[in-house]
Amino acid sequence: MKIDIDATNMPFLLLPKPALLITCGPFEKSNILSIAWSIPISRNPPLVAVAISPKRYSYHLIEEYKAFAINVPTYDQLNAVKVCGSTSGKNVNKWEIIKLTKEKARKIDTAIIKECIAHIECVLERKVELGDHDLFVGKVVEAYGEEKAYELGILNTSKFKPILHLGRDNFTTAI
Ligand SMILES: Cc1cc2nc3c(=O)[nH]c(=O)nc-3n(C[C@H](O)[C@H](O)[C@H](O)COP(=O)(O)O)c2cc1C
Repeated sequence: MKIDIDATNMPFLLLPKPALLITCGPFEKSNILSIAWSIPISRNPPLVAVAISPKRYSYHLIEEYKAFAINVPTYDQLNAVKVCGSTSGKNVNKWEIIKLTKEKARKIDTAIIKECIAHIECVLERKVELGDHDLFVGKVVEAYGEEKAYELGILNTSKFKPILHLGRDNFTTAI
C-alpha cells in the first residue's frame, strides 16, 4: 500500500542528500549557509547548481558578488551545519559561533572552511528564478579535496563520514 504525499513535500522523497556548507560574499564579510539541494549539472563545462530561497541572506550575497564556494563537511561537523542552517548572517557572524577555520578561497573572493574535506569554487554563471527557491548555476573554477578522503577518486566512507540530510532536523551518514 502506498500513502499519498502532498506534492509540496516531494523534496523529502528525494532525500537523503549530502548537507553542504556554502560560503559566499567577500572574504572579510563572508557568510556560510547550509544547503542540501545541490545538483551537478555538467562535467564539460563543469557546472553545478544550488537551490536557494530569496529569504536567505546568502542569496543576496551570491547575487551581488557573483561567486560561491561549496564546502563538503564530515559528520563531526554536524553542529556547524545545524548552526549555519538555523541562523542568518544578516544578524550574526557564523564564523565566531562554529569555530571552524576561515581560509581564503584560491580563485574567488570568498572564504572556504579549512576543516571541510572538499571545496568547489564557482563563479555565478546564471540565476534561474523558479519558485520559492531559485537555482544558482555556478561555473566551477577550482575544485580540491583532502587526499586521504579521495585517494581513489571517490569518497572513502570507511574513514570520512558524510552528513546526509534526511529532512528537517534529521541526519544520517554512510556505512
Ligand atoms: C541541513 C540543511 C539543509 C538546508 N538546505 C537548504 C537549501 O538547500 N536551500 C536553502 O535555501 N536553504 C536551506 N537550508 C536553510 C538555510 O541554511 C537557513 O535558512 C540559513 O539560516 C540561511 O542562512 P543565511 O540567512 O545566513 O543565508 C538548509 C538548512 C539545513 C539545516
